[in-house]
Amino acid sequence: SDQQRLIVVSNRLPIALKWMDDHWEVNPGSGGLVTALAPVLGKRGGIWVGWPGTDVEADVSAPLDRFSREQGYDLVPVPLSASDVQGYYEGFSNAVLWPLFHDFHTHCNFQPDFWRTYETVNSRFAERIQSVARDDDYIWVHDYHLMSVARKLRESGGKRQCGFFLHIPFPAPDTFMKLPWRRELVRDLLSFDLVGMQTQRDVSNFVHVMRSLCSDVETEGGRNFQRVSCGPLSTKVGAFPISIDFNAFEKQASSREVSQRTASLNRLHANRQILLGIDRLDYTKGIPARLEALRQALLHYPDLQGKISLVQVVVPSREHVPEYKKLKVEIERLVGEINGQFTTPGWIPIHYLYRSLPREELISFYRFADMALVTPLRDGMNLVAKEYCACNYREDGVLILSEFAGTAAQFFEHAILVNPYDVEGMARAIRQGYYMPREERRHRMRALRNQVAGADIHWWVDSFLHATEQDPKSGGPLS
Ligand code: UDP
Ligand code: G6P
Repeated sequence: SDQQRLIVVSNRLPIALKWMDDHWEVNPGSGGLVTALAPVLGKRGGIWVGWPGTDVEADVSAPLDRFSREQGYDLVPVPLSASDVQGYYEGFSNAVLWPLFHDFHTHCNFQPDFWRTYETVNSRFAERIQSVARDDDYIWVHDYHLMSVARKLRESGGKRQCGFFLHIPFPAPDTFMKLPWRRELVRDLLSFDLVGMQTQRDVSNFVHVMRSLCSDVETEGGRNFQRVSCGPLSTKVGAFPISIDFNAFEKQASSREVSQRTASLNRLHANRQILLGIDRLDYTKGIPARLEALRQALLHYPDLQGKISLVQVVVPSREHVPEYKKLKVEIERLVGEINGQFTTPGWIPIHYLYRSLPREELISFYRFADMALVTPLRDGMNLVAKEYCACNYREDGVLILSEFAGTAAQFFEHAILVNPYDVEGMARAIRQGYYMPREERRHRMRALRNQVAGADIHWWVDSFLHATEQDPKSGGPLS
């Protein structure tokens, strides 16, 4: 498979384009999907098919070509009109699938038009793939925006191998069955040759959903992935926990630029421990509850006053979806309230940044922080947790991690696990982290780092691509 050309397909191309009066500004896109996959294509070459995120009329060929030349793989744009974006991206993807799959069915807006536009746009992606793919290419579709692409490809006669990876959780039947288009969506997933999920729990949810929808489900197979069939339809499904380019993060964390930045941050905050939160602005990330936990910690444990500060970075995201607008107001109110309650001359409990950060600045924060607070209410994986460990090469940081992040399936032994709905429990965890002795920190962080280093993004790609070629009965490459 090393020779096989890879076509990665995702809703968004890995860049954010902004028109600056007379030229395009090009920045890396945000979110875990881009962080994970960009180094994969950088290393292997290939093609990335996706929406450029710009107005349908805009001519973006020049910045895309430049990016392609620099990175060594091609970007193929799928333009979307304003009404496509509204129905398919803001509507079905981010006001139906995103909340439902993260167990927030009350945030869903099940408008039938959203589903129709989703289908149409998925066909459009399929056509674009057909127009660039060679016969022996491997097509690898990513995430919840594009679950119908394989069926659309098959309908137009496509015979190429086509895999899918879901970056977000797959919900249990109680939740999934609320979806009016539940049959169609499961049927569409069964058109892929292989469906990858983040954790075993997601895989078993998927199999349970199939059992609720289909009376003759059969499963066979191994520890790493299995074949599931429903009548004539069948696919392979397995858990492949996504990861990061560990070496790249570690290396940049020890670079001179990052060391200088970290040193000046340290001078500003001597004799104080820094807690770090980094999240896209998203209700799944549990930011308000985390701020409440900090408040509880400062109230219940006055010994922590003046001794801890939270640096909370919130990256703007999906600003046109109504639920996201409300959240920003709520977070900013809470930050103001808590700072008003506790600030003293020389100490501010919460440093709040609402913007996206260049990689170097992000990594300086990872190195500088004594504790990372990764407390989503639900998360497919959460790469911030892995990045924090990769950058903490001095092995003196503490990771406080939500039980409901996919990462917890790998990190449960050595992170401090918390229930993000339990504000007092999180406050206790903050105190435990603050007083954790150097030796214990080292022991835990070393184990976490070994885990990320041993299962990095290149391991992930290899195990997924290997599974595409294997018969589940043979057990697969990892057993
Ligand atoms: N990140 C980013 N811009 C920033 C800060 C962080 O793109 O200003 C990255 C971060 O490095 C991480 C990703 O955003 O790779 C967040 O991934 P995660 O899996 O934690 O959550 P997601 O945003 O995908 O839900
Ligand atoms: C999550 C999703 C990605 C998405 C990213 C950023 O990581 O899994 O598919 O790209 O968030 O969200 P956006 O809506 O801006 O693409």
